[in-house]
Amino acid sequence: MKLVRFGVSMEEELLKQFDLSIDNKGYANRSEALRDLVRTCLVKKEVENPSQLAVGVISFIYNHERRELARHLVQLGHKRMKEVISSLHVHIDEQHCLEVMVAKGKIGDLRVLADEILAHRGVLHGDLHLVSLPPAS
Ligand code: NI
Repeated sequence: MKLVRFGVSMEEELLKQFDLSIDNKGYANRSEALRDLVRTCLVKKEVENPSQLAVGVISFIYNHERRELARHLVQLGHKRMKEVISSLHVHIDEQHCLEVMVAKGKIGDLRVLADEILAHRGVLHGDLHLVSLPPAS
């Protein structure tokens, strides 16, 4: 891909802080750090659009002793089969399990699915991470 060079003006102090921050993250140079910042910014914009296709990673910790919750999660997986691609179960301790569910669909639907899971009694905490997909070619 063709690279384009452009000049950026910035306050000296701001640039100093930027250099320090990218140095800590291990970037080799400003260009690479700036490219990543721009990509992150564009991805953030995309995940604001509810009709955009994405992959959602829903991770949460729950108490498996709450039988109705474990049953509900299995039912949910079957009911939303078209969206839920895969899930991973890890036994954390005597009581708690970590579940990582990967689903594909419209961002709006993925948020509804994640809300339904995370608001369930017995789910201690969790998170939805969205990764937008490139447009179909
Ligand atoms: Ni478990």
